[in-house]
Amino acid sequence: MRKIVISTGGGDAPGLNAVIYAVVKSATMRGWEVYGSQSGYKGLIDFDRLVRLTPTEVEGITPIGGTILGSTNKGNPFSMPVKNLAGEVDVIDVSDRIMSNYKRMGFFCHIAVGGDGSLEIAHRFAQKGMHVIGVPKTIDNDLEATDRTFGFDTAVSTATEALDKLHSTAKSHSRVMVVEVMGRDSGWIALYSGISGGADVILIPEIPYCMDTVCEKIADNELHDKNYAIVVVAEGAKPLDGDIVTCGEGELGRDEVLLGGIGKKVADEIRCRLDKDVRHLTLGHLQRGGSPTTFDRLLALRFGAAAIRMADNREFDKMVAWNPPHMTSVLLADAIKNRKMVDLKSDKVKTARDIGICLGD
Ligand code: F6P
Repeated sequence: MRKIVISTGGGDAPGLNAVIYAVVKSATMRGWEVYGSQSGYKGLIDFDRLVRLTPTEVEGITPIGGTILGSTNKGNPFSMPVKNLAGEVDVIDVSDRIMSNYKRMGFFCHIAVGGDGSLEIAHRFAQKGMHVIGVPKTIDNDLEATDRTFGFDTAVSTATEALDKLHSTAKSHSRVMVVEVMGRDSGWIALYSGISGGADVILIPEIPYCMDTVCEKIADNELHDKNYAIVVVAEGAKPLDGDIVTCGEGELGRDEVLLGGIGKKVADEIRCRLDKDVRHLTLGHLQRGGSPTTFDRLLALRFGAAAIRMADNREFDKMVAWNPPHMTSVLLADAIKNRKMVDLKSDKVKTARDIGICLGD
C-alpha cells in the first residue's frame, strides 16, 4: 500500500482545500493512505504536525477558503530561522531531517502545493531523492508553465466587486479613488479586475507609468462630464523614473520583500497635481480570502486529481500544469525558471486601450 504526503506552502489561495480534497479522494480510491504536513514542511520536521487525511476528514472542505493544513511563507527548510537556547535566532538547514523523516514514514511521494518559492524548494528536495509532484498555486497567476494558477480567478472577482462598489461613492463625492491590488511583480490581478471593474487608469509593473499621463486622463474625464475616476494600481507598479514601493524591513525567514504603499504614493501625487479630492485604499488580503469561485474550485480539483495520476505514473520532479484544454506536466526545473508577465501585445491589453483605459504610458 502506498503512503503519500501533501503540504501547502507560501501565501494561501482560495482553492487549496479543493486540491487537498481531490488528492485525498483520488489517492484513497487507489487504496493509498494520505497524510498532511501542517504549515508547509512542519509535519515532516515534527511528527506531531503530521495528520492522517481520510475522505471523512476532508468532507465538505472544497468551498472553504484557506487551507486546513495551514501554510507559511517563512518555512524554507534549507534556511529556517530557529530560536536557540539563548533566545537568539539561528538560521539552520533542516532538509536532511525532513528527508530522513520522509523515508522513516515510508512515503511514496510528496504533493507540494505552492507558488514559485515553494516549488523551488520542492525541486531541491527532488534533487535529494524525494518523489515530488508540484501543484501550482498563487493568486498572482505568475507561473509561466501553466495557463492559470488556482486562486487567481477568486482574487480577480473580489477585486472587481470592490471596484464596482467604489464607483457610486467616488461619483457622489467627485473623487479619485486609487485602489492598490496584489500581484507581486506582475499585473494580472490589476489588469483583469481593472478592465472588468470599469477603471479609468490601470498601472501594472510591466508598464512603468508616467504621472503626467495619469493626470491627463483624470482631467480628461472632467471634459467628458465624468466627475470622478477609479485608478487601479498593482502593488508592484513603478514610475518611469522610480522604483517599487516596499513596506517594512524583510521579515525573518521570508525570502521575498513585502510590497505595499504604491497606492498611497500615486494618490498623493495626483492630489498634488490636480484640484481633486483623492482617497486611496489597499485591498490586501481580502483578495486571498473567502470561498473559491467555481472556476478555481474546478481547476483546483482537476489539479489535485491530475497530481495523483502523475504519482500513479511515477512522474516525479514535475508540476501539473493546465494547458487548455489539457492537464499536462512540466519539469519543476522548467516551471520555476521564469515568472509569467502580462503580454503587452495581448488582447486584454488591446481591449483596455480600445475602451479608453489609460495604462500610464
Ligand atoms: O503571492 C501572493 C501574495 O498575496 C502577493 O500578491 C503579496 O505580495 C504577498 O503574497 C503578500 O504576502 P503576505 O501574506 O506575507 O503579506
